[in-house]
Amino acid sequence: MLAVGGKVPVLFDGGVRRGTDVLKALALGAQAVLVGRPVIYGLAAKGEYGVKRVIEMLKDELELTMALSGCPSVKDVARSHSLETASSTRSLESNTSINAHVSRKMEGEPVNVNEFQELARQALPKMYYDYYNGGAEDQYTLKENVEAFRRITYGAANSVGETATAKAAAASNTIMVYKRRDLSAQLVQRAEKNGYKAIVLTVDAPMLGRREADIKNKMIVPQLKNFEGLLSTEVDYLLDESNFLQEEGSNFEGFAKGVLDSSLCWKDIGWLRSITNLPILIKGVLTREDAIKAVEVGVAGIVVSNHGARQLDYTPATIAILEEIIHAIGGKIPVFFDGGVRRGTDVFKALALGAQAVLIGRPVVYGLAAKGEYGVKRVVQMLKDELELTMALSGCPSVKDITRSHVRTERERLHSML
Ligand SMILES: Cc1cc2nc3c(=O)[nH]c(=O)nc-3n(C[C@H](O)[C@H](O)[C@H](O)COP(=O)(O)O)c2cc1C
Repeated sequence: MLAVGGKVPVLFDGGVRRGTDVLKALALGAQAVLVGRPVIYGLAAKGEYGVKRVIEMLKDELELTMALSGCPSVKDVARSHSLETASSTRSLESNTSINAHVSRKMEGEPVNVNEFQELARQALPKMYYDYYNGGAEDQYTLKENVEAFRRITYGAANSVGETATAKAAAASNTIMVYKRRDLSAQLVQRAEKNGYKAIVLTVDAPMLGRREADIKNKMIVPQLKNFEGLLSTEVDYLLDESNFLQEEGSNFEGFAKGVLDSSLCWKDIGWLRSITNLPILIKGVLTREDAIKAVEVGVAGIVVSNHGARQLDYTPATIAILEEIIHAIGGKIPVFFDGGVRRGTDVFKALALGAQAVLIGRPVVYGLAAKGEYGVKRVVQMLKDELELTMALSGCPSVKDITRSHVRTERERLHSML
């Protein structure tokens, strides 16, 4: 790309299986991408219709990736939107395991190119499938073409930039921002009245991420009982998902599109501040730029989070970027950590890297689903016990004795090998 230096257009070809792959190729400078095997998979599985679906899927995935990366148009996709990571070791096995996962899980209509590949494999005589699918010799480059995409995670792109959006959400003690602001204001007031200590504004969900299991299951969220009767009839209508039922896809996605405000941005934190005296934290910070901006706009704290990997695929793991954000914040406001915590040792690691506290997502859901309130208490207790044991075995009598020197990151490990 650098060699051509913009003198003629450069098109990209090879390994494109997802809209995210298209975005990465465009971010690295390609003018357009060519799609090879996916078209064959579509054709073999479902004829002309299959080809159209494959193209449509890639287009839809690209559009969603752009929206979640703060790119209103293709020309807003910049080099800074991608970041190549150095780890290549997990590549070959993960390709196999992804395909195994696909064939095990696939039910109903295919919802992505990998599933079309599996359908094509089932539909074609082996000789032809192998002909289309195969590569040269050990097929290293065949796998590498696809895997090299997977190793690129999103980098310095401004995920909560001026054009990007902010949204508060309602997971037990957080608040959603609706298209109707008066409604959001009512919810904030209720939170205040019920003794909540802070408002957490979720800023990583201008649109719902593409959750393929929800699409297949035509996901319906049951009516939100805790709102019943407390709000106006119109609000009840908005909160009743059955009013958004659609034949295809995830009903939750339809609901979110209909109800949530996707146009919020940094300046709207001022609006939120004007309606509440509670401290405002923003949840969903993944870059140093956004961390710095958060301090500038005067929020009371941030939550480093990628929404439990439910929004934009290929965002970095939150634990991998925590320290960078801690440095950017420079102690000016508290930083909380969210994502992937399953053990007391995880809590310990996040604290050692500089987080003030951690948030727990799915483990709470697991506890609740398995054993109700008792289950949630057990989950929290287990994590606490594990943390205490980790502290004791690491020579830390109290949380403030946990320091940076208690952990070693992947980067440090690689560095020590040089
Ligand atoms: C079923 C489910 C629903 C969620 N709903 C919301 C939501 O409405 N708003 C929000 O900010 N985060 C939501 N999250 C993300 C969590 O708040 C949290 O960021 C994430 O689960 C942390 O990752 P973990 O599950 O690995 O702990 C949801 C997560 C799950 C699993």
